[in-house]
Amino acid sequence: MAEKIKKIGILTSGGDGPGMNAAIRSVVRYSLHYGIEVSGIMRGYQGLLEEDIIPMGHRSVSNIINRGGTILKTARSKEFGTDEGKAKAAAIIHKHNIDALIVIGGDGSYQGSTRLYEKFGIPTIGLPGTIDNDLNGTDQTIGCSTAINTALESIDKIRDTAQSMERVFVIEVMGNKSGYIAMEVALAAGAEDVIIPERQFNYEAMHQEILDGNKRGKISYIIIVAEGAAMAPIVAENITRYTGVETRYVVLGHVQRGGTPSGQDRILSTRLGAAAVDLILNGYFGKAVGVLEDEINVIDLKDASRRIHADMDRRYELLKILT
Ligand code: F6P
Repeated sequence: MAEKIKKIGILTSGGDGPGMNAAIRSVVRYSLHYGIEVSGIMRGYQGLLEEDIIPMGHRSVSNIINRGGTILKTARSKEFGTDEGKAKAAAIIHKHNIDALIVIGGDGSYQGSTRLYEKFGIPTIGLPGTIDNDLNGTDQTIGCSTAINTALESIDKIRDTAQSMERVFVIEVMGNKSGYIAMEVALAAGAEDVIIPERQFNYEAMHQEILDGNKRGKISYIIIVAEGAAMAPIVAENITRYTGVETRYVVLGHVQRGGTPSGQDRILSTRLGAAAVDLILNGYFGKAVGVLEDEINVIDLKDASRRIHADMDRRYELLKILT
């Protein structure tokens, strides 16, 4: 064990995701088990800059494993985005005797913690907390499994009305610049098509397919759109314009970020929280922790940003074969 670690700081940053609370619980209780104090930093990097820092005991994380959101709250901080902001954050970390910082967040939060580590020497560990599943070094990020299930619940309901009223539905899902949620949701919902940023999409072919289907009596379609690829209202308007088929759109939006975390997210978060503390205990910093092929996996924080899922073409092919 690295002797000097007496206190760990923990924050959640960027978009919240179901499972973050389970990760906080794991970090707090695992640290306390090893005699390390934990400071909870409220509202991400912004709360750090405002010294909104609270001590966390065993009971402070009671009854949160099943709750969505994050008890530490979260934010996107403009001030922390600057090097001046990071220098101020580093000084506050020292002032509060925080020996290492665990950041639960997504791409932007990881970039911030990488800089905090590399330029300002703050020992940081990243935990992949984002519904987008766009980070390297882990099969899944915290919140993604729940977000997919939440989107599916709505899409299954939309399918009922789409079929009954013989309409095309265009459904937009979150994911920032990643089409991962959209692709998984499309496969799991049995959607007819999916538009994602990772692949060029042939709109003409889709319009033609709808027209051809129409002739055969197939009128209801579910088309999933990743927010990073297109806007559902425009896709829907163009379908009506080019095919004449009545089309509706739904933007699922932030509903995907809330709700009770799935079992998978709770387990992932629980394992990752403990693994992050283990890294600190063993003197590893500037690392991002994940789970790959069911094993804890560690990579450099600087390499964790911007995962591009490689097999989107194959998944798309499968989707089209199965429709
Ligand atoms: O990164 C998580 C995410 O939910 C993205 O999928 C989405 O693009 C973004 O956050 C939305 O951010 P905000 O809650 O600030 O609108």
